[in-house]
Amino acid sequence: MNLLDKFHNWRRKQRWNRQYKKGRWQSLRSEKEALRYQKIIEYINRFSPKSPSILDIGCGDGLLTERMSPEDYSYFLGLDFSKESIKIASEKNLPKAEFLAADAVKFQPQQDFDVIVFNEAFYYIHETEKQNVLDRMLSKLTDGGIIITSIYREGHGCWEYFKEDKRLKELDFTTVKTDEELRYWKIGVYKKN
Ligand SMILES: C[S@@+](CC[C@H](N)C(=O)[O-])C[C@H]1O[C@@H](n2cnc3c(N)ncnc32)[C@H](O)[C@@H]1O
Repeated sequence: MNLLDKFHNWRRKQRWNRQYKKGRWQSLRSEKEALRYQKIIEYINRFSPKSPSILDIGCGDGLLTERMSPEDYSYFLGLDFSKESIKIASEKNLPKAEFLAADAVKFQPQQDFDVIVFNEAFYYIHETEKQNVLDRMLSKLTDGGIIITSIYREGHGCWEYFKEDKRLKELDFTTVKTDEELRYWKIGVYKKN
């Protein structure tokens, strides 16, 4: 990122902080949104190694962790560049879970993970950094581990990174629909080839 991009990235971070502080993302707790979290959890249970370690990039206030049963993971690390969202997530004291305020663009995982999730997050990463982030995360995926990506509607600037990467094999891909025509999510699950 050049200096101007870094400035815009910083401004975006401030915007997320303000929005979490105001409770704007409480809307993700609705019944309609629950469907996409359920699908991600179903994919984890179906495709990941037993009792996986999970890294959730752009975890927000920890809603995915909250929706999971603690028996279904051995360790959960949620990462988000908004310190306000991380504060909310940490205060929940969720079992076997830690939350870290850090930018995915710079974050160096200290361990390998069985599951890496980009839940409504990949397309927010700056265009010039998406490939770097994906490469770094792939290098921290265990053999047999999976990557799950969920994106609202079509996800421009997202799927090409997963579908066209020869190092990845798509295990499943689905569209989670609701009773509203324009409210849907695409979710893909991948492993290393
Ligand atoms: C729409 S929210 C999704 C939150 C959560 N994954 C969920 O679906 O419940 C997108 C999140 O990505 C985070 N985010 C955006 N860019 C990021 C970056 N470069 N590094 C880390 N987090 C980022 C935002 O702060 C925000 O919490």
